Amino acid sequence: MNAPIVNPSGAPVFDIERIRQDFPILAQQHRGKPLVFLDSGASAQKPRQVIQAMVRCMEERYANVHRGAYRLSEASTADYEAARAAVARFINAADPREVIFTSNSTAAINLVAHSWGRGVLRPGQAVLISEMEHHANIVPWQLLRDDKGIELRVARVTDAGELDLEDLAAKLADGKVGLVAITHMSNVLGTVTPAERIVAMAHEAGAKVLFDGSQAAVHRRVDMQALGADFYAFTGHKLYGPTGIGVLWARLEHQERMPPFLGGGDMISSVTFEGSTWAEPPAKFEAGTPPIIEAIGLHAAIDYVSAIGMPAVEAHERALVDHAMRRLSDVEGLTLLGRAQDRGGVFAFALDNAHAHDLATLLDRAGIAVRAGRHCAEPLHARFGLDGGTCRASFGLYTTEGEIDYLAEALTKAREFFA
Ligand code: ALA
Repeated sequence: MNAPIVNPSGAPVFDIERIRQDFPILAQQHRGKPLVFLDSGASAQKPRQVIQAMVRCMEERYANVHRGAYRLSEASTADYEAARAAVARFINAADPREVIFTSNSTAAINLVAHSWGRGVLRPGQAVLISEMEHHANIVPWQLLRDDKGIELRVARVTDAGELDLEDLAAKLADGKVGLVAITHMSNVLGTVTPAERIVAMAHEAGAKVLFDGSQAAVHRRVDMQALGADFYAFTGHKLYGPTGIGVLWARLEHQERMPPFLGGGDMISSVTFEGSTWAEPPAKFEAGTPPIIEAIGLHAAIDYVSAIGMPAVEAHERALVDHAMRRLSDVEGLTLLGRAQDRGGVFAFALDNAHAHDLATLLDRAGIAVRAGRHCAEPLHARFGLDGGTCRASFGLYTTEGEIDYLAEALTKAREFFA
């Protein structure tokens, strides 16, 4: 973005047309029609500022980090650590060392399961997840359960698509839950979970809390110090940054107790054939050459959304959600999955006379990109009796009300077509 536009009160103005110009891919025609990209929940498009930052890194300042005593390596190390500091500021972490770079959210959650789960949880303790989890926040805990004799509990989701807090409380009541691992925003229902309440309930019951913030961190300001959780995972590529980089925010006291997960270079203090000792956190969890160029890209993405302002991003999305709720509710034969009070810009839906994949294919002909299937949330689709899957439209900060209108019109036409 060029300098942010400000209104007379000094607050940034959300100028959607100007923002869209920052995303080269949005200028594309698709099958002779303007691209209507409604799959940002799967992966967001990238602004020129991110692309250019990564190119500049490779053209001007690239070398491996933490290893060289020469100028380029020192510059690259400084840029990589500046990216960590930018992430820490973005999520209001108390200390940049609480930020561990991983390859994505999945790797971040697996790191907690493999390291903290294996090192700290004891057989007989339980991990409590919910019915609305992405597979990335189900399968690692199943692996841990099968390996370590941990119990896996699942809190229910109401018909409206909200977390059933009574059920959560009941499943915490015996004090055996060591970790509550819950999404902060469902990638299918759009539901934003009551994170502070969950933290209070879990801590009261003696459990730690991990949030899968893959969707939430993109759509609203997240504040680690205010939230008070123990672990928070999110990914760069949904935040307008590159693929290949994710973040695990973890309190230092937990990192101290966590054994390494991946072993290799950069995570050690010393190595002999008899044994090794570990580097201080977070290096202890960043074995091997890290995602350097990706970290630079993530830093640029954070600068980009921060210049717009997360409150402005959130306000734009609230308006889109209200608009989508009205427009999609008017489409005959369309079932919307989830009607939570607090929700973000993710809408899964099914048409009464079309299979999700057929519908997505037809929408593609109109230039509309949506995801079809079960969106890595098979148990949630089973919970709502939609084993055949749904289509999902998910918004980014570049999404317009006009695009939502176009989707609603295309859905009405699709219903006529399939009839
Ligand atoms: N987790 C991504 C999604 O929900 C890929 O689509």
